[in-house]
Amino acid sequence: MSFLSIRGLDVHYATRGATLRVLRGIDLDIERGQSLGLVGESGCGKSTLAAAILRLLPGNGRIASGEIRLDGTDIASVDAETMRLKRWKEIAYVPQSAATSLSPVTTLFTQFVEAWNVHAKPDRQRLRERAEQLFRDVELSPRWLDAYPHQFSGGMRQRAIIALALLFEPSLLVADEPTTGLDVIVQRQVLDVIKKVQRQHGTTLVFVSHDIGVIAELCSRLAVMYAGELVEFGATRAIIPEPWHPYTIALKRAFPDIRHPDHELHSIPGQPPSLADPPRACVFAARCPFARERCRAEKPMPRAMPDGRRVACHFAEQAEAMRASIMSGAAIYPMEAA
Ligand SMILES: Nc1ncnc2c1ncn2[C@@H]1O[C@H](COP(=O)(O)OP(=O)(O)OP(=O)(O)O)[C@@H](O)[C@H]1O
Ligand code: SF4
Ligand SMILES: [Mg+2]
Repeated sequence: MSFLSIRGLDVHYATRGATLRVLRGIDLDIERGQSLGLVGESGCGKSTLAAAILRLLPGNGRIASGEIRLDGTDIASVDAETMRLKRWKEIAYVPQSAATSLSPVTTLFTQFVEAWNVHAKPDRQRLRERAEQLFRDVELSPRWLDAYPHQFSGGMRQRAIIALALLFEPSLLVADEPTTGLDVIVQRQVLDVIKKVQRQHGTTLVFVSHDIGVIAELCSRLAVMYAGELVEFGATRAIIPEPWHPYTIALKRAFPDIRHPDHELHSIPGQPPSLADPPRACVFAARCPFARERCRAEKPMPRAMPDGRRVACHFAEQAEAMRASIMSGAAIYPMEAA
């Protein structure tokens, strides 16, 4: 079994008007030491999946069904105390907008002490040495341990948060949009640091981003989400040059490639479906330029393709023609035809 193995994961949020079925039937596998990028438009459920792995869903959220096995243990069903011990030690989390999660009134070193206190009484001298080493690993001078968060720039703050997350040498690091909002140069520095520490510490990484170009830089595996479902999953180096799902193709055209920032961007016309009543057949059909009768009648289940990737599209075998059509701008989206 893979190091992290997710099977049939459904997550629901209860709201006043309806139950939102925010994740449906998620299946994912990551081997130890691999890096997985989770990508998709805003609202597709990336942060929900990240929080579910940590069992840190908001109060109105619940895992309705499925398994999340980490090194064989189903963390979707362990008790709260076991999960509390696993957090930090085995699974560390850099939440979306983590910068605001740092306390503004204590120095960074005090925040290391407080984090350590969650599990044991710290030996301050040893902890200081460890914190200094982690700061060096993320390319911050150890003297910054005695500074307050407001004295840090955005990129330094993200690196300090990553150092803090690595305190217990977690085997899995889940980082939710850690570079969003940073300018391109600082973003590159933070990505380089993540790449370096991931390799150095052998950490398995789940990295969330809405930007497929950022994931291409960092992750060996790629999972593309659309409206709560996984539509394409496989090796990044196979998917990025030749995406097979129409949504992945359109997403690639919608984002700048950080290696070719001058290429023209084209957003995907239309909106994702309501998560209160998601489509029973293909989840992308209302926006897909290639949708036909079968797509609106029958759900395309993720299928293994010859190169090992899984694609949830009835017509994935026609990917080459679909790519040519979308990338050249010839494809007509339903919203444009209406
Ligand atoms: N606590 C909540 N209660 C109800 N709905 C929620 C809650 N949290 C998130 N949602 C909804 O669930 C869906 C998925 O949200 P999520 O934050 O996981 O998306 P995301 O892919 O991380 O988006 P972004 O890129 O904007 O961060 C969205 O429609 C969102 O509005
Ligand atoms: S199944 Fe049909 S609607 Fe869905 S992505 Fe494939 S071609 Fe488009
Ligand atoms: Mg999010």
